Amino acid sequence: MAQIAFSEKKLKEVERIKKKYPVERSAVMSVLYLAQDEFGYINDEVIEYVAELLNMAPTRVKEVATFYTMYNKKPVGKYHIQVCHNLTCTLMGAETIVEYIEKKLGITVGETTKDGLFTLSEVECLGACGTAPVMQVNDTYYEQLTPEKIDQILEELKKKSS
Ligand code: FES
Repeated sequence: MAQIAFSEKKLKEVERIKKKYPVERSAVMSVLYLAQDEFGYINDEVIEYVAELLNMAPTRVKEVATFYTMYNKKPVGKYHIQVCHNLTCTLMGAETIVEYIEKKLGITVGETTKDGLFTLSEVECLGACGTAPVMQVNDTYYEQLTPEKIDQILEELKKKSS
C-alpha cells in the first residue's frame, strides 16, 4: 500500500473525475496530472497510489506515465520550461531557442539550475504549431519565441519568484 495520499480537496477532485467516465481507469491521465501537481513528479510510489485509487495494475499506470512527456519522472525546478522540438517548431527556429536558453541558464536539456528555479526539457508537439516556435512553462504557453522574448520571460519569472 502506498505511503502517500492526496489532500482531502484533491481526493474529492479524483472522485469527481472518476464519475465522468464509464470505467474508472479512463480517469488515469487526469489523476496522474493531479498527482503531479500534488507530489511534484511521478515516481513508483505515486504510480502505485494512482493504481490503488483507480483499481488498476501499477504497470498499466506506469505505461501511461512513461508514454507522455507531460508527466515528470524526476523532480523539476519551480519553472519547467518545455520547448517543442517537433517539425514545425524546429523549422521555425526551436533549436536556436533551446541553445539560447541553455546558454542563458547555464544548463543543458534535462537539467535544472542550481537554484532550483528552472528545468529545461524538449517535448513533443504542444498543439500550437501555427505560432511556432512554442514553449510551455508550467501551465502557460509562450509562442512565436525569439531570443528577446526569452529574455523577457525569464526576467519576469525570476522577478515573480524573488
Ligand atoms: Fe511545435 Fe506543434 S510542432 S507546437
